[in-house]
Amino acid sequence: MGLYGRFVVPRLINFAMKQSMLRERRAALVPRAKGTVLEVGIGSGLNLPYYSHEVERLYGVDPSPQLLAMARSNARKAQLAVELVCESAERLPFADASFDCAIMTWTLCSIPHAGRALREVHRVLKPGGELFFAEHGLAPDARVAAWQRRLTPLWRPLAGGCHLDRPIDELIRAAGFEIAEVQNRYLKGPKPFTYMYEGSARA
Ligand SMILES: C[S@@+](CC[C@H](N)C(=O)[O-])C[C@H]1O[C@@H](n2cnc3c(N)ncnc32)[C@H](O)[C@@H]1O
Repeated sequence: MGLYGRFVVPRLINFAMKQSMLRERRAALVPRAKGTVLEVGIGSGLNLPYYSHEVERLYGVDPSPQLLAMARSNARKAQLAVELVCESAERLPFADASFDCAIMTWTLCSIPHAGRALREVHRVLKPGGELFFAEHGLAPDARVAAWQRRLTPLWRPLAGGCHLDRPIDELIRAAGFEIAEVQNRYLKGPKPFTYMYEGSARA
């Protein structure tokens, strides 16, 4: 990875992911997690202030040491005991059926092998365990989707591997989950970048 990927992208991600519109989505989703929780692609730890006291243990996985350093500092501020693991979601270093819940926010767009990562999340969740997700992805409108496919090859190298055109619900189902609920909508901003899938799925 070059200097841009190592030093610029983590700062851009941390800055971009702090938007108030995203904070509202985090505040609605993250408090739903309970018990032993895995956050996949924890990034700079912007979800940490929203975990409830019902979380017994939290593990955060991310392959970026730079983002994990920011997450460590956010964990101290949130006074939350979190174990941060520098690893890719495609090979989670946990035993089968270890977690009650998993959280993924704006992460499935960036994982190189999203299907493989979701199968790993399914493996490490207890049977019936819940995956809570807030992800952006493929829009239902043909014109927006065409722009998403056109823009992704240009956008991906600038934005830490982010794909605009992933069908998030299909990927989750294909990994063996049953979607319990999903809400779709555009957030404010250019449509190719803002089509959301928010909800939960059962392992
Ligand atoms: C747009 S950021 C979102 C960060 C964080 N989830 C949030 O809500 O602020 C995408 C995250 O996915 C992480 N990521 C990229 N590839 C990954 C992989 N193979 N496994 C786990 N996380 C990955 C990146 O390092 C980055 O932290």
